[in-house]
Amino acid sequence: MLSRRDFLSEVLAAAAAAGSFGLLPAWSAEEPSIDIPGEEGMIVRSARFLDLEMPPGFFDSWITPMPHFFVRNHMHEPSTIDGETWRLSIGGEVEQPATVTLRDLDGMPPHTVTNTLECAGNGRAFQEPRVPGIQWQKGAVGNARFSGPRLRDVLERAGVKPTGRHVMFHGLDEVPGKVPPFIRSIPIEKALDQHTLIATKMNGTPLSKHHGFPARALVPGWIGAASCKWLGEIKVLEKEFDGNFMKPGYRMPNHPLTPGEPLNVDDSHVVTALNVKSVISSVWDQAKIKNKVQKVHGAAWAGEADIVKVEVSTDGGTSWEDAQLGREHAKYAWRLWNYLWKVSKSGRYTIMSRATDSRGRVQPMTADWNPSGYLYNAIDQIKVNVEI
Ligand code: MTE
Repeated sequence: MLSRRDFLSEVLAAAAAAGSFGLLPAWSAEEPSIDIPGEEGMIVRSARFLDLEMPPGFFDSWITPMPHFFVRNHMHEPSTIDGETWRLSIGGEVEQPATVTLRDLDGMPPHTVTNTLECAGNGRAFQEPRVPGIQWQKGAVGNARFSGPRLRDVLERAGVKPTGRHVMFHGLDEVPGKVPPFIRSIPIEKALDQHTLIATKMNGTPLSKHHGFPARALVPGWIGAASCKWLGEIKVLEKEFDGNFMKPGYRMPNHPLTPGEPLNVDDSHVVTALNVKSVISSVWDQAKIKNKVQKVHGAAWAGEADIVKVEVSTDGGTSWEDAQLGREHAKYAWRLWNYLWKVSKSGRYTIMSRATDSRGRVQPMTADWNPSGYLYNAIDQIKVNVEI
């Protein structure tokens, strides 16, 4: 019998042989999707280390159900973690190093944050010139209710010394060969923010294995990499951690680069908060449309800022009209939006969406290029043929 890992490798190889992993202009129904228990209908971007993308059709729900929530793993998930014996150690620049159990965390005052978690590399497939890495299109993002104690309450138990300026998270991933472990840090101000959590639940149920059981960091509004899964250790540091996943990984240039230019690590900073962005989730790219009224819809988010406007253009960006924002909203959560397009003439149309946030940031026509394709947020577009 095949192990799950072997099974996934075979599926991946078959999909790659079928040429399904190239750069595609938009989601295609032919992309590989496999049935992993509890992960129905997801696009497999990598099976060696599980990376699953949500197809645009699943953007239809304000809260993303766990089976549709993207998965991003840099290495193997821990093969066994027992909630009874699992321990989280808290040390470094603290008065009293501590160890907490899952029961301890569950006994602390819970807090819930509805957060849009997006991988820094979401949209990388659309970067031109092309960049290496997982070729995420639109769906390395999801919106869920994360619950658990505030990180600051846990840190208070140990007592942060005045020298503590950064908080490091160490994941319990199974590290293959010489790959460095998944360790990253966030500044103390973000760690002590009332919305930063040690999440033990997602959408009201315990975290699944893929999403970090039994506990993960939840750093709202920041790139997904800040929210370390399978926490084993928290350490308060005097300085920003500078291991692989902080340097040279997950860095943005301090000044815009010309496409193709390499990143100078000494002139760069760690990626933190998300960009303003919207995507169109109506899945009729390249489709034939026969109705005179079409619903264009999607989602928009802006990290630590709020979405104030989403506009839609049906003439390739010449004119724009406001879309209607969905009623459901929360700080750090995406807004669903929709627009009723009344079309009177047959022809080929380019439909675009453009978001604006509470800080005045507007989604650009072209995203700033960087060699890792981080924070891609260009105006989204689909093309359709209308035959009425
Ligand atoms: N934490 C650990 N321990 N190992 C990882 O590989 N991946 C990070 C982050 N936390 C990762 C991790 C990245 S890059 C992202 S985008 C998010 O987890 C994805 O979270 P999800 O898989 O629950 O969607």
